[in-house]
Amino acid sequence: MKVGFIQFRSVFGDIAANIETMKNLIASVEADLLVLPELATTGYTFTSEEELARIAEPFDNSPSLDELSVLAGVKNCGLVVGFGEISRGTLFNSAALLRPDGSRELYRKIHLFGAENLFFQPGDIPFAVHELNGIRLGIMICFDWYFPESVRVLALKGAEIICHPVNFVLPWGQRSMIVRSLENRVFSITANRYGVESRGDYSFTFTGASQIISPYGEILAAAPAEGESVAVVEIDPALARNKKINRYNDLFESRRPEFYRRISEP
Ligand code: ACM
Repeated sequence: MKVGFIQFRSVFGDIAANIETMKNLIASVEADLLVLPELATTGYTFTSEEELARIAEPFDNSPSLDELSVLAGVKNCGLVVGFGEISRGTLFNSAALLRPDGSRELYRKIHLFGAENLFFQPGDIPFAVHELNGIRLGIMICFDWYFPESVRVLALKGAEIICHPVNFVLPWGQRSMIVRSLENRVFSITANRYGVESRGDYSFTFTGASQIISPYGEILAAAPAEGESVAVVEIDPALARNKKINRYNDLFESRRPEFYRRISEP
């Protein structure tokens, strides 16, 4: 299976330009699965809820997702892409899985970062695993990495590849995802944006360095901190199904959840 990331810089508020950039980059590669950044259609730095509401799109009626979905079919490639979602007046920082057959799945960011809390509602759908050609994908967005429970629950539900659209601003995300992959024996594809976005009181420098990590914590591909970057690697998703560490230990069976109860208490 060929999987990859697409790193680019969204232009704030210009969905048409961002879709055009994504389409050109997607068209330039052959892959079975490509992950694109968080809020790739809109840009990141919203300054009001009204501004976000004007540009956000419904998951089931989104011209942006429709266009990318057509391309997913033409390229026979699953796409995971971040977008601003409006659902009956409620705003979410979401990601869609667009399958080549036209079907799609939705994830709504569960752990909102910083001022996102002012404009978006936290995700209200449990972490879920979705099939793509018999491979099991888990989706989470950016800051979800800071909560190890996110990857853990996706891995326990059977995810083999964690699709991770991000707009990283903190310096530790890439390094942490190496450990998240290792401790859960899963592949992860982190697709970041790059560049500075300054609006109103906010200015963010996004860190690029998108990456693909193996279930053994190996860096299979890494982008530079700046600039557009597309990488595709061949992987064997079956590697993520074997949780054996040695003849006595299995990553999941050796857990002692009766001693971890505090983790799942509110
Ligand atoms: C982030 O969650 N976009 C930092």
